Amino acid sequence: MITVEELTAAAAGASATERFRTDKSPFTAVTETPKDRVSELAREVLSALHDTIRRHRVTYAEYNALKAWLIDVGSDGEWPLFLDVWIEHVVEEVATEHRSGSKGTIEGPYYVPGSPHCGARATIPMRDDEPGTPVHWTGRISSVDGSPLQGDIELWHADADGRYSQFAPNLPEWNLRGTFTADPDGTFEITTIRPAPYEIPTDGSCGRLIAAAGWHAWRPAHLHVKVSAVGHQPLTTQLYFPDDPHNDDDIASAVKPELMLEPQTQADGSQKVVYDFLLDPEKA
Ligand code: DHB
Ligand code: FE
Repeated sequence: MITVEELTAAAAGASATERFRTDKSPFTAVTETPKDRVSELAREVLSALHDTIRRHRVTYAEYNALKAWLIDVGSDGEWPLFLDVWIEHVVEEVATEHRSGSKGTIEGPYYVPGSPHCGARATIPMRDDEPGTPVHWTGRISSVDGSPLQGDIELWHADADGRYSQFAPNLPEWNLRGTFTADPDGTFEITTIRPAPYEIPTDGSCGRLIAAAGWHAWRPAHLHVKVSAVGHQPLTTQLYFPDDPHNDDDIASAVKPELMLEPQTQADGSQKVVYDFLLDPEKA
């Protein structure tokens, strides 16, 4: 594993690239995709680019700026970030269009498999002095027919400074990453802290595109989860907080109304929240 020593786009990008190569590249069977499909998809994408160039009279100076930028996205290791911010949400939409259970959304670049097992009622691994508002989350995992599922919830999220362990420096390896197994009746109770909104790195090539276009780099605060249970399609989703200023203009277009939490602030300042999951059975 790359040890992250700096909070730079290149350091986060290198970790995200290595993570992808380790977890996902072995399963990306490009060579097994039929030639006709590769040809059709590649032609259509190229043709969309050609149309844009013609319609907007793109110049050589602009073409070379694009070439320089694409080279930098690669050398900064920012392809995972670029793709997960601007492309993944549509892939996710297509992949889950026939589901009737809970809504999914993008996984993003910062999932790490194998987080520590915590049981059904526990606090996620965190530092002794972890800053941030405590969040007490209770819920239940069921199948779409209502039967309880003793499933697993993998939870990972940024800290109160918007930083993810294993991708930002000086955080314990599994900080704010844990796997919870529901009780036989499907219920679980998780204590964590409220993450800060996340700004995608601004010092790399994705940040330069954002600045050049006059966009902003923010994702609203979010909890990432993967929910899985025997005989059911795994769910990858994110949960959001209703008062976040970026819920309506998420740079990664991953917010859906069904994913909004309804936290209740308690007398001690902590928040209580209830959120359940419904999983679709495996396809026959
Ligand atoms: C990115 C970061 C996230 O935390 C996320 O959920 C999606 C995308 C990114 O930096 O690309
Ligand atoms: Fe995220």
